[in-house]
Amino acid sequence: MHSFIQHLPKVELHLHIEGSLEPELMFELAQRNQVEIPFNSPEEVRNAYQFTNLQSFLDIYYQGANVLLHEQDFFDLTWAYLLRCKQDNVIHTEIFFDPQTHTARGVAFKTVIEGITKALEQAKSELGISSQLIMCFLRHLSEEDAIETLQQALPYKEKIVGVGLDSSEQGHPPEKFTEVFRQAREAGFLAVAHAGEEGPALNIRNAIDILGVKRVDHGVRCVEDEALVAELAETRMPLTVCPLSNTKLKVFQEMTEHNIVELLRKGLCVTINSDDPAYFGGYMTDNFNAVANAHPMTHAELAQFTLNAIEASFISDAEKQALAEKVDHYVASHA
Ligand code: HPA
Ligand code: ZN
Repeated sequence: MHSFIQHLPKVELHLHIEGSLEPELMFELAQRNQVEIPFNSPEEVRNAYQFTNLQSFLDIYYQGANVLLHEQDFFDLTWAYLLRCKQDNVIHTEIFFDPQTHTARGVAFKTVIEGITKALEQAKSELGISSQLIMCFLRHLSEEDAIETLQQALPYKEKIVGVGLDSSEQGHPPEKFTEVFRQAREAGFLAVAHAGEEGPALNIRNAIDILGVKRVDHGVRCVEDEALVAELAETRMPLTVCPLSNTKLKVFQEMTEHNIVELLRKGLCVTINSDDPAYFGGYMTDNFNAVANAHPMTHAELAQFTLNAIEASFISDAEKQALAEKVDHYVASHA
């Protein structure tokens, strides 16, 4: 089973690039940029990663991002993640970045996007990994701030496939961002949003109905509304689920309580993703293994997570077909 998972072609759709900052790189960048961090070693950083809920994680995650200042830093961050993708046989990845986390500290939008996209281009040619980039608005900030961020993104429109919504879900529901999502969709961006992670099932409905999202990030609290679950199955609205994130942030107390396999078997387009792997203790293969250990599955079911992610990805039909063929071939060769 573990060998099947290790080599299974994978597609990641929910990965915050700032959440892939490993403590070792955080230290290296802190020294390189002479940024003070309140830790004496990478080990001390890791020991601080004891979370009780989403906010306890976000506080430390935004602090970690302070070491990112120059284009080279964003390149190094992204390249390190892509090398991990290669190890885990991730063949396509759609990456979130949080521009406001950086522009609020005086780092230019251009610095962030140039560093990230140069690494993505190099990964395409040197590692054979394709990618897309999604810009997230921070929901704890105002809609006005999000609209200003959308304006800053317009010159880089060809590098960004969509917009998303992340950060604190409690108290910041999807409808707070109705206007900026309307403007983003009008400008040609696809939409996604975190919803139903810590917030209620109603946030999932409103992300779909009001923000016009093509995928829901997390979405695991959909089970609190039976009609919604039926609708998600019927419409094949994708959920980008992050198993290790959910147990680390106590959305589920144990992986055995996680509902991802139940949702898969109900016909929902659920996918497995790593969210913030440096903080939650695992990349894609680790997430697949954690789910499979707690919920025994067939090879076909494991592969279905990748087929779902291909279906849910923001690439052309021809590209989707080429990726799906790789998965089908892999499964057939392991029959
Ligand atoms: N939820 C909300 N905001 C985030 C997350 C998440 O899982 N990861 C990074 N920002
Ligand atoms: Zn997330």
